[in-house]
Amino acid sequence: MYFGEDLEREELKKLAGEKAVEYVEDGMILGLGTGSTVEYSLRKLGMLVKDGLKIKGIPTSMHTRRIAKEENIPLTTFEENPEIDLTIDGADEVDSDLNLVKGGGGALTREKIIAYHSKKVIIVVDDSKVVKALGIDFALPVEVVKFGWASTKKALEQFGWQPAKQTLEEIGCTVELRKVMGDEPFITDNGNYILDCEFQRIDNPEELEKEINNVPGVVENGLFIGLANEVIVGGKQGILTLDR
Ligand code: 5RP
Repeated sequence: MYFGEDLEREELKKLAGEKAVEYVEDGMILGLGTGSTVEYSLRKLGMLVKDGLKIKGIPTSMHTRRIAKEENIPLTTFEENPEIDLTIDGADEVDSDLNLVKGGGGALTREKIIAYHSKKVIIVVDDSKVVKALGIDFALPVEVVKFGWASTKKALEQFGWQPAKQTLEEIGCTVELRKVMGDEPFITDNGNYILDCEFQRIDNPEELEKEINNVPGVVENGLFIGLANEVIVGGKQGILTLDR
């Protein structure tokens, strides 16, 4: 039964991922997002490029760069093309204001730079990612430099103490160094660590985004506020498009 649910989820991701590619036009500079949902967009884009579509992409991660290479999607750089026409990317959580939590794949810093410099950002998700409030189901990823990371972690733990109606027991923020393969820290494409910050919920994402980025050692955090223009949601009833 679990296997069946996974298969269904893949279908919903594919639905959303492939739909976004309909927004791509000849001659565009594209931001190429990271993750399993946007991989469906990249594979579809590869087919269109094979059929003659002329675009150039800037990848948000080494992983996406590899997929783009496999698909013969031409790549470019910010130096050659400082402005991006359209970015297609995934997300870990999406709220009703189209604010996002991103960084499940650890690519949040490059993803945010690319989203910020894009004329339009389309997010592709399956319906499990649409939430009432950010931070309930998914820990907020924060990229930090290695130097002083343990103290940066301590500073981030204070962000659990939000002024709110709830008791402190309900609001606590726990911070974990992301690890891979046993005890090895996960290293981002920029050579940094990721601290995953688990909140009970994030009530003021706009404020929190700025406050976290004020802590020395923090490179960027996974709150994407006001950056998404449209979210394509793959659900059992089909595709739902959320926009501003
Ligand atoms: C990577 C990301 C991804 O876009 C996000 O984690 C969603 O991935 P998936 O589509 O595999 O669920 O932010 O840093």
